[in-house]
Amino acid sequence: MTLDKSYIPLKTSVDVARIRRSCRICEKILVQLSSCIREGVTTKELDSLAEVLIRKEKAKPVLKGYDGFPGSICTSVNNVVAHGIPSGYCLKDGDIITIDITIEKDGWYGDGAWTFITGKKQSPAKHLVKAAWQASLAGIMEVKAGSFLGNIGYSINMIAKKHGCSIVKEFVGHGIGKEMHEEPLIPHFGKPGTGRRIVPGMVFTIEPVLSLGKPDIIMTEQGWNCMTKDNSLTAQFENTIAVFKDRIEILTLSCGKLKDFIDYPPVL
Ligand code: MF3
Ligand code: CO
Ligand code: CO
Repeated sequence: MTLDKSYIPLKTSVDVARIRRSCRICEKILVQLSSCIREGVTTKELDSLAEVLIRKEKAKPVLKGYDGFPGSICTSVNNVVAHGIPSGYCLKDGDIITIDITIEKDGWYGDGAWTFITGKKQSPAKHLVKAAWQASLAGIMEVKAGSFLGNIGYSINMIAKKHGCSIVKEFVGHGIGKEMHEEPLIPHFGKPGTGRRIVPGMVFTIEPVLSLGKPDIIMTEQGWNCMTKDNSLTAQFENTIAVFKDRIEILTLSCGKLKDFIDYPPVL
């Protein structure tokens, strides 16, 4: 993702309240979809359901038609890194699927993604999904007014490596608000003390994609159904974070007590 606008639209607390509302809709729909993920369900069925649920909230499924994207959500299965197009593919026991949902309500965007495991079979995927959650959390823990964006990326990459996983560098977090993608971009690797300074009023996503193997990907022409070169599995959690003077808030997580979810995200 490259953005040419180099300014960062900072948000007031009223703006944050609007973005929070949109993010909570994303979270609610991810939870609703989670109960439908099982063997035999197609990604197109999940997409159709998501569209109904989004419209029920009087929100817009903004991914639909975005650069020609045909779905209302991205459904990225196994070795599909991101931007998976919903299709007739039937989920199998042990498959992992990342659902990424972006919506707009009253002009404000929300964006979130979760990776789910299909069925109960113990799979190597479980280790990856856990690592992806922990790497994401490690990044969130570094968000603090006065700190640097490089601290976030550094921490994420360290945790990914600790679990034997790698970071797909092509996918980065981004500012969000009246647009789906705004400055600043948030790389999921970096050096502490480098990059832009984090200031109150920033609202951005953290969305590292972890690969169980090498991080190299095959980018398709339009960027859809992007896959790992070595076909290794990938997992991703995306959260939207608001920065205040003396605290931060994870707008896509209403559970509050993060400490209860150090190992796994709330719905796994
Ligand atoms: N929700 C994605 C993100 O986190 C964007 C999807 S863009 C689309 O930035 F092209 F796939 F639609
Ligand atoms: Co997203
Ligand atoms: Co995003």
